[in-house]
Amino acid sequence: MRDKIVAGNWKMNLTFEQALQLANDINTWASENKPNAKVIIAPTSIYLQAIQETVDEEFVQVASQDVSNTEKGAFTGDISAEQLDSIGINCAIVGHSERREYQQETDAVIAQKLEQLFNKDITPILCVGEKLEEREADKHFEVVKSQILNALNPQKTENLSKLVIAYEPVWAIGTGVTASPEQAQEIHAFIRSVLNDAYGADVAEGTSILYGGSVNAANAEELFAQADIDGGLVGGASLKVEDFSKIISAF
Ligand code: G3P
Repeated sequence: MRDKIVAGNWKMNLTFEQALQLANDINTWASENKPNAKVIIAPTSIYLQAIQETVDEEFVQVASQDVSNTEKGAFTGDISAEQLDSIGINCAIVGHSERREYQQETDAVIAQKLEQLFNKDITPILCVGEKLEEREADKHFEVVKSQILNALNPQKTENLSKLVIAYEPVWAIGTGVTASPEQAQEIHAFIRSVLNDAYGADVAEGTSILYGGSVNAANAEELFAQADIDGGLVGGASLKVEDFSKIISAF
């Protein structure tokens, strides 16, 4: 059985005090409600350790929003997989479209980041997804396939047992426009077939594939009911415990 996961990507939001409060509230809610899905929160990196100490990992796991593509040394501002591991962080988002867009991250860099994470046994949430013009040109399957294969190609199949993929169409992120459940299911099934062809049935069937892009309390249930949607990577709606807890409860 694949993990059901609802992950909150807080991006560059919340003061330290607000972040601690939200982490506390989510932890309290999860410990009282014992949801069916694994709950992950990804705060700004400078809050990681404090939030890790605030939540109970039985109920809430803490993820980094990114990781360096190099191991250590003179890389000002970067945070390595080893450093994440040294404070007990065992999950990290990589390849988010905002980093592809604003930090010019390429598939090759993302592949290096994945390698760093796998070397430290940290679970990657690999983000993929097409832009609006690519969807309109009917290139979304091609784009997503190449993002996945370019990022994963150097990996050995045994590393991939930890992999989580998040399909986040860029046109749905922060726009209020969500992919329809049918559109999302179609591409999630396609992603699973790409994994199957490249890495075999165990990887394909074992990989949780999350949907991201304007997930909210009103649309989560229909999205999560799809056969190949194993959860959500949530941005805006993860910043309030009332909304985030409703999304988690959609499972
Ligand atoms: O990583 C989550 C994300 O990019 C979706 O953001 O605000 O559309 O839920 P949002």
